[in-house]
Amino acid sequence: MTLALLPEEERILAGEQGETRQMMMEILVALGKVFGAEHLIPIRSAQVSGASFKTIGEAGLEWLSGLDARVAVPTVLNPVGMDRKRWREMGIPEGFAGKQEEVIAAYSRLGVRLDCTCTPYYLYKTKFGEHLAWSESSAVAYANSVIGARTNREGGPGALAGAIIGKTPAYGLHLVERRRPDLVFAVEPSPEWNDTALYGALGYFTGKIAGNRIPFLTGIRPKRDQLKALGAAMAASGAVALYHVDGITPEARVFSYPTDELEKIPVTVSEVRLTAAEMQPDAVALGCPHCSPEELSGIARQLDGKRVRIPLYVFAARKVIEQNHGAVTLIERSGAKVYADTCMVVSPVMEQFGLVMVNSGKAFAYVPDMCGAAVRLGTTDECIKTATGT
Ligand code: F3S
Repeated sequence: MTLALLPEEERILAGEQGETRQMMMEILVALGKVFGAEHLIPIRSAQVSGASFKTIGEAGLEWLSGLDARVAVPTVLNPVGMDRKRWREMGIPEGFAGKQEEVIAAYSRLGVRLDCTCTPYYLYKTKFGEHLAWSESSAVAYANSVIGARTNREGGPGALAGAIIGKTPAYGLHLVERRRPDLVFAVEPSPEWNDTALYGALGYFTGKIAGNRIPFLTGIRPKRDQLKALGAAMAASGAVALYHVDGITPEARVFSYPTDELEKIPVTVSEVRLTAAEMQPDAVALGCPHCSPEELSGIARQLDGKRVRIPLYVFAARKVIEQNHGAVTLIERSGAKVYADTCMVVSPVMEQFGLVMVNSGKAFAYVPDMCGAAVRLGTTDECIKTATGT
């Protein structure tokens, strides 16, 4: 299979529109050749990871600073290493903050929107069937599975190249025939499937088994935030970029996938609950992926009239925080902190703790390596009870 470029694309590749666009087209062509794409397809939006100075470091900043172009489609930045307004309060060193702002300025010069969130679907409409170039793994799982849009799990440079050219190679999850399920998780039906954090544990458990295959789950009826938690965890413990839930996710409703011939793995509530360990945390972090308005309201209700006895961090997109001022005020009245632009994984703030409790299967997978802290998984209710000691 060969990658065929349009005359306009050939001209970009030849450098007629400048060095940066040429380099970006080279990235897309290289990806397309490696993965057997036959052509490039236009995308509706991009979401670019590699935004925290903690993850890209000096070399990444230097590369970004040398780019000279503008994005061709709406493009959102992933969380960075600090709340851009409250970084001092977070205990972020001045040197880190300065470098982080340089990274943000480099993205801003390219025309990238500085929402700094892994949940761009709360801010900008994304529709069924649209092609995207998103890179943050939970956002990719949500876009593909919950919205029915189409994106591969792009690396930071691949997403940025897609953003600047406005196209991406047509392979993998952009093709309908590559979106069929590979295995079935037959989940034990139970009324216990009403806590979002249990979906994080379910995602962590099933993602490890699924790897990069496309799972089809039966026996559960998750709501949107529960789907978000499920996909984020599956993407983190495995490399799941698309999953289907019988009768719930859009493609499972539109296409009746035949599953009789697929490997079938039973999953019980008790084995998912075992995923959560029994240790005493010294901080609690919620909001991975970033909290929805409903999640902020729920946390506010649960904290009403209580005080935290260990640090409790809540993370959400700045616009979501601004639009839900009442809930945020109630949360912070307890002594908890609600931070924008960043998260428990990409910010250095969590590195000071030995054991962090989270309600997210994704954070459960990443906090140990990225923050050097041990991690315990609990339900949202258990996390808040741990933080308040009540
Ligand atoms: Fe988002 Fe950070 Fe979790 S980027 S998905 S809150 S690890």
